[in-house]
Amino acid sequence: MSWLRRRDARTFPYDAVVREYHAVGKHFVSDEILRLLARVRAELPEIQSPWPALHRLATFLDVALDKPDGRYDYRSYLALPLLELPAADDPIEQVPFARSRCDRLSAHLMADVLAFELAAADGQTTRLPHMRPSSAGTAKRLRLGVRAIRPTLERLTLVGGLTESDPVDLARQVCTVVDADMSVLERRLMGLTVLPVYTAHDEYLFLRVLQLFETTFALLSAQLRGAVNALARRDTHRAVHYLRVAATAMRQAAPLFSMLATMQVEAFRTFRTYTDGASAIQSRNYKIFEALCRQPDDARVDSEAFYSVPEVRARVLAGQATLDDAYREAIAVGELSDQQVDALRTAMADFASVWLRWRQTHYRLAARMLADLRGTGSTDGTAYLASVRTIPVFHTVDAESADSAADETVARS
Ligand code: HEM
Repeated sequence: MSWLRRRDARTFPYDAVVREYHAVGKHFVSDEILRLLARVRAELPEIQSPWPALHRLATFLDVALDKPDGRYDYRSYLALPLLELPAADDPIEQVPFARSRCDRLSAHLMADVLAFELAAADGQTTRLPHMRPSSAGTAKRLRLGVRAIRPTLERLTLVGGLTESDPVDLARQVCTVVDADMSVLERRLMGLTVLPVYTAHDEYLFLRVLQLFETTFALLSAQLRGAVNALARRDTHRAVHYLRVAATAMRQAAPLFSMLATMQVEAFRTFRTYTDGASAIQSRNYKIFEALCRQPDDARVDSEAFYSVPEVRARVLAGQATLDDAYREAIAVGELSDQQVDALRTAMADFASVWLRWRQTHYRLAARMLADLRGTGSTDGTAYLASVRTIPVFHTVDAESADSAADETVARS
């Protein structure tokens, strides 16, 4: 109320609002607070503040008010508009910079969830107090989290200070090293991008892991776009490079599933009661890179898979360029040497294998968490995932079998 008398977007009491959301869960925020936030949003056009601050506040309010607005979905649940991921319509010249942007963001997301786990274990936070994990569960989660983020920290040259061997101490070091490298704005963004629907501890992990994967998907979309563009110019060297970055990113993201598998099934089933309508089937980036690999089959385009992402479906129906087509065309006109074709085939097959493995691991984890419950994205749940897990990535190039590695990833956790 006092802010409404001054109305400067730079001094909006974000911390107080987020604290309230964390105290009760987004699904249970009181009408009084929701009305106040809606009033702030309605008054934004009259507020004189620098554009970036105003834009951030408008985006935050849209994310915070998604449920009363009736717009709640995967994007708003994950606060994706605030994360400023590389986008499908960024200029093609920006593709080479996508990896460093995604690496930085991934490090921040992981350090933040590790810090939350540590604070809870130390009894230093009252946020999301319900269904805390055991100390053994926390230690395992911390160990798997550090393992998952290590390659990213290596690329960011942030591993030098990581000397501890005990998983808890090592996780503390990761938090310190990453935090010391963050700008004020980056820290602010971390504080705004976890708005769980309920107060169960494990939802924090769930949200951050989804955001980490979504960051990977944004990177894959950029790399696949770069690969299609490069191959159309017959620059196979660059196309192979982008495919390799994509495969590496997907491969290195897989340990996140092990970390997520430490989520307590009961906690997951409790908070998911309030996430209905938000499902990763609505992930645009996932469907963007899928449709950049090849034209999806008609039955898939005309199913919940693509109905859930209408903007991407429209691109598919408009006949956007795909890697499969570019590859076929390059072969048909005979402009590639045998060596170039080999390199391309190997890179495509590797990407396809690693993605099939991702799907299999995802399916295993979902089956364990859900059993026979329905999905939150209008599908029948694991039966849907079983049916989509073997869809070929490319028509032109095959992948290898994915089953054994996926079993191993979930079983290890
Ligand atoms: C507890 C863990 C998880 C469970 C139980 C689960 C469950 C499901 C279910 C049931 C679906 C089908 C759509 C629906 O009705 O919701 C789905 C789709 C999907 N999930 Fe998950 N999921 C989990 C974790 C994740 C994670 C961490 C990601 C990473 C972003 C993810 C990405 C996806 C994607 C991309 C789809 C769409 C697949 C397609 O349409 O082919 N899921 N998930």
